[in-house]
Amino acid sequence: MPSSKTPEPPFQVIELGRPWCAAIELKDGTRLLMRPIQPRDADTLQISFQKLSPHDVRMRFMHPLKELTPEYAKQLTEIDPERAFALALVEAKPPEEALIAAVARTAVDDDGREAEFAIVIAPEIRGHGLGRYLMEQLIEWCRSRKLEAIYGFILTENRPMLTLADSLGFDIGPTDEDVGVALARLSLE
Ligand SMILES: CC(C)(COP(=O)(O)OP(=O)(O)OC[C@H]1O[C@@H](n2cnc3c(N)ncnc32)[C@H](O)[C@@H]1OP(=O)(O)O)[C@@H](O)C(=O)NCCC(=O)NCCS
Repeated sequence: MPSSKTPEPPFQVIELGRPWCAAIELKDGTRLLMRPIQPRDADTLQISFQKLSPHDVRMRFMHPLKELTPEYAKQLTEIDPERAFALALVEAKPPEEALIAAVARTAVDDDGREAEFAIVIAPEIRGHGLGRYLMEQLIEWCRSRKLEAIYGFILTENRPMLTLADSLGFDIGPTDEDVGVALARLSLE
């Protein structure tokens, strides 16, 4: 959960008494459940992925991807709690209808010092502050693990994510290998 220094998000958050679980209501009335992603989300994640545009997929995965294979969906939903953390925003609808509207994840490097993040928010719920809120949750998790930094690779054309990372205090610079990719890194020390 956000630290006391984090400003209030521009939507209603009701904590549900379990770690990283909250009911969220946006100003337009949209209701979502935030919770850690679970192995049973794999099928829903595959379906939810189909709603993303090719552009969104490229921004998130850094390359085109037509579908999430069952193996990839399994990999994205089976989280080793010692090494990784992934939050889903699930639509507050009957279980058979509820899609996953956002996922934010971070995975600790092999040397245990830093963690890489990735995030995607469904187009219908962008611009409500959820990207910032979920990034703050990831930062909080990394701090709780006493990691040195959180970082992510962002396509240089991805203005929304670069602006978000910059506003969260990330340092943004070039990567060694690829001119089209920036490295955003937030020191947590
Ligand atoms: C980038 C992304 C996560 C932002 O999510 P979001 O929920 O719309 O973001 P928020 O509403 O929390 O906005 C937070 C800040 O991000 C920046 N931002 C968001 N959308 C922006 C846009 N279209 N243009 C410029 N800045 C933008 C702003 O600084 C904004 O702060 P403000 O509202 O005070 O101006 C979302 O657009 C997304 O999922 N994109 C596709 C996948 C992707 O690019 N993932 C990142 C790969 S690591």
